[in-house]
Amino acid sequence: MTDRYAVVGNPVAHSKSPEIHAMFARECGADMQYERLLAPATEFAATVDAFRISGAAGVNVTLPFKLEAFDYAGARTARAERGRSVNTLRFDANEIVGDNTDGVGLCRDIVSNIGQPLLGARILLVGAGGAARAVIGALLDFQPAALVITNRTPDKAQAIVDEFNARNVFYAIGYSALPTRRFDVLINATSASLTASLPLVPASCFDQNALAYDMMYGKGQTPFLALAASAGARTADGLGMLVEQAAEAFFVWRGVRPVTGSVLKSMRQSTR
Ligand code: ATR
Repeated sequence: MTDRYAVVGNPVAHSKSPEIHAMFARECGADMQYERLLAPATEFAATVDAFRISGAAGVNVTLPFKLEAFDYAGARTARAERGRSVNTLRFDANEIVGDNTDGVGLCRDIVSNIGQPLLGARILLVGAGGAARAVIGALLDFQPAALVITNRTPDKAQAIVDEFNARNVFYAIGYSALPTRRFDVLINATSASLTASLPLVPASCFDQNALAYDMMYGKGQTPFLALAASAGARTADGLGMLVEQAAEAFFVWRGVRPVTGSVLKSMRQSTR
């Protein structure tokens, strides 16, 4: 029987997940279908219920439903609990399992695809919304020298730090403290790139050979990446994270982890 999956979001028409999973399915010889599911803003649970009851095996969850998906899951993995966010639901016979593959996806892209170590690195995470929260646990697992979070609204960054029990390496600073600091890896987890506005990261923050990573993709060179490039940093958009989080979701559902290299290359060509 063909296993059925979908990405649930609003909007969802732009999602590249169906293309990515179709390539994984071909590569792994998996008999599966993967579609887009548009959920009305107030009907996440009803939309997923209907899909699940029709015999589907799982869903990916994108904006704005990752918190609803967290509540919808009957059981949750430790990494979903840590970020209080779910991007992958697996419909088992007796329960609905919520997981989050975003953090692993980001870190695999940075470490394995880009070749930038996180162990011992000084990391700056800009933003304190759901996207930032979801990746903190995975970044901490790599034992950076420091994980510093900064946000336009400083209280939100401090509130996230207070949730994680990692004060020896994980702490918040205000934008005004940035000019005196230097980092090896700078990650933009704000939604500022959607509106082409620029988080206030001074050029002096980028250490020689630093990596600037924008979790957005398909936006060309965002203002954050343009600034980073002019400061001499290496730059990466979030397309690799998208592919890696999808590969991990595939593994969560099917117990097989696809090889991502050729899929990422193909996605890179098609989004050019
Ligand atoms: P998401 O789930 O995508 O993270 P979110 O929870 O709305 O979305 O969070 C958006 C993040 O982007 C927040 O950190 C927000 O800063 P505030 O907490 O101060 O609102 C940040 N953000 C959005 N637009 C921004 C801008 N123009 N400059 C700086 N930060 C911005």
